[in-house]
Amino acid sequence: MLKIGNIQIKNPLLLAPMEDVTNLAFRKLCKEFGADIVYTEFVNSDGLIRDNKKTYKKLEISDDERPVGIQIYGGNLEPMVEAAKIAERKNPEIIDINAGCWVKKIANRGAGAGLLRNPDYMQRMVELIVKSVNLPVTVKTRIGWDKDSINIIEIAKRIEDAGASAITIHCRTRCQGHSGEPDWSWIPKVKEVVKIPVILNGGVYTAYDVKKAFEETNADGIMIARGAIERPWIFMEAKELLEKGTISLIDTPEFRFNVALKHLKYELKIKETKAAIITFRKFWSGYLKGLRNSSKVKQELMKLTEYAPIEDLLMKYLEELRKESEINLV
Ligand SMILES: Cc1cc2nc3c(=O)[nH]c(=O)nc-3n(C[C@H](O)[C@H](O)[C@H](O)COP(=O)(O)O)c2cc1C
Repeated sequence: MLKIGNIQIKNPLLLAPMEDVTNLAFRKLCKEFGADIVYTEFVNSDGLIRDNKKTYKKLEISDDERPVGIQIYGGNLEPMVEAAKIAERKNPEIIDINAGCWVKKIANRGAGAGLLRNPDYMQRMVELIVKSVNLPVTVKTRIGWDKDSINIIEIAKRIEDAGASAITIHCRTRCQGHSGEPDWSWIPKVKEVVKIPVILNGGVYTAYDVKKAFEETNADGIMIARGAIERPWIFMEAKELLEKGTISLIDTPEFRFNVALKHLKYELKIKETKAAIITFRKFWSGYLKGLRNSSKVKQELMKLTEYAPIEDLLMKYLEELRKESEINLV
């Protein structure tokens, strides 16, 4: 059972924070497919305290996606505390501290995964933020900086001592970035030394991975990032697999295009048409993955800036795919 503040969920599935991906539209979609907790992308603390409009917009949340966490990042204590207070005013259920971002310009300046190299400082940051807001504070981090300096056991204890309500562990080192095998074996080891919930992240791409991750590690929750970009319905599949032992969803092109168009419509509700369609382009690869001739269709989709031609193109493509499968059946 995952308990964070007033949230109590058995075997919860969480949508990971992802820059330029987990905006209102995508979070709403994943929520509808069964994500139990969703997170904003990371929000820069300096941008927030400077009242940067673009940064501030990232704090927008809506009631239909709750419970939701706002993730903040930065390397300096005062701006992080101020940013947490600003985020709190938006009334999310959770404030999450990013202690895992591997990008050089962030990690090398002591923010994100850079905090792993300074456990004292990380603890101080978490402590100050916990004291400054009335919401549960969680931390998302990694197992260590590199394979020779894995320090997640110490880090987890410090995060707990600082008063955090949960820890999410991306089971890769900072030096692995987003590739290479995640090492889930750290989850049970961390669970032995802390009482706060431990959430597993990294390498969970299918419903079967979700099941395996719960079974192998006894994690208190599973957080999914890239697996949700390709298949936002992974949450629904995983829940069914966990509850009933089977997956009934049949992943057809028609199903995928319906999801894609619904997702695009959510995007159109929060942005003006052209901006929404451009934002959406990064999702086409996922929705079209594995389909016949999809690269040609994707190229065409990349040129369109209105909704109607996109829908027309997908319906035409669907017809082609149907005809081809009929031919193959003959
Ligand atoms: C496009 C993209 C953007 C990301 N942005 C963030 C972010 O804003 N905050 C964060 O904590 N992690 C971020 N991550 C890392 C993911 O949350 C997650 O830790 C990582 O992808 C490993 O999970 P996965 O193997 O399920 O993809 C991002 C990952 C991707 C692919």
